Amino acid sequence: MVIVMGPEATQGDVDAVVQIVGTAGGEAFVSRGISRTIIGLVGDIERFGTLNLRGMSGVADVIKVSTAHKLVSRDNHPERSTVRVGGVPIGPDTVTLIAGPCAVETPQQTLEAAQMAKSAGASLLRGGAYKPRTSPYAFQGLGEAGLRILADVRTETGLPIVTEVVDAHDVELVASYADMLQIGTRNAQNFALLQAVGSIGKPVMLKRGMNATIEEWLMAAEYIAQRGNLDIVLCERGIRTFETATRNTLDISAVPVAQRLSHLPVIVDPSHSGGRRDLVLPLTRAAVAIGADGVIIDVHPHPEQALCDGPQALVDGDLRELARVMRQLSPLLGRTLV
Ligand code: E4P
Ligand code: PEP
Repeated sequence: MVIVMGPEATQGDVDAVVQIVGTAGGEAFVSRGISRTIIGLVGDIERFGTLNLRGMSGVADVIKVSTAHKLVSRDNHPERSTVRVGGVPIGPDTVTLIAGPCAVETPQQTLEAAQMAKSAGASLLRGGAYKPRTSPYAFQGLGEAGLRILADVRTETGLPIVTEVVDAHDVELVASYADMLQIGTRNAQNFALLQAVGSIGKPVMLKRGMNATIEEWLMAAEYIAQRGNLDIVLCERGIRTFETATRNTLDISAVPVAQRLSHLPVIVDPSHSGGRRDLVLPLTRAAVAIGADGVIIDVHPHPEQALCDGPQALVDGDLRELARVMRQLSPLLGRTLV
């Protein structure tokens, strides 16, 4: 059983819950987040049921779910959630277009990529300042200098920023610049990092681990939620299979499956799935048609010079065409492109 305390709950309210659970022979584990405190209960659920926990001061919800991923599960939260990033919705009524460079390389390249994103109609800017690379000799990102470039480009374009954090020690720093923190596929089961982003009070995009089952992906999301942060967007970005024609295999069925199991929004990354520019549009069509709540797309003003993932980056005209197709498809599915 899990107790979700409301944002207005006081320390006294939390202590009262812990105390009453103790009197019923149970144990209460408190996780304090910026906007919510979550209390996990261990003990006799039948006995907890007699305590009128729901009526106690500060208690927003009492969740009795048999699935292991309780807070992100749809069992107890039938309505699909909308997560807002700098005011931009990601949820069931919209299809959100996130676009930008894979890596922040220079102020000029980032600004040009952001202007491409904005003029095509994207509402959020992606861009990595910390790059998780297979090779230690590959470009690792500009670090804080890259975050500063993103912040300047946000001021210039008005686009809120989605950027990856790869180390739990950097969460506070990255969160001080970002509107949404990204957890990449390689860190999707880095539990200390998941807990750290769960405690920082910013929306989180959680990519699916390249070898993770949907169950493992949702359990990773539960680590974030359990720290009091339910502003989580799941991102299907392709998984490892025997197929080598594409960089990863886009598991398109994961979108409706995850949406059925969890109330969290689910978006797709067609760039990292296919790994090829020519596949980005067809995979985007598939994502929108199957009901994804958004897509995240790599763009670059000069892909042949990109320091990371050039072969999958779209150029200006490709992105405008992609947005045009998304704008046509979205209303057929009862959604608006944002
Ligand atoms: C980009 O976003 C990732 O850092 C990149 O896909 C890592 O892949 P690589 O280091 O194998 O090129
Ligand atoms: C990215 O989007 O920058 C990225 C590193 O993607 P992934 O974690 O899906 O490989």
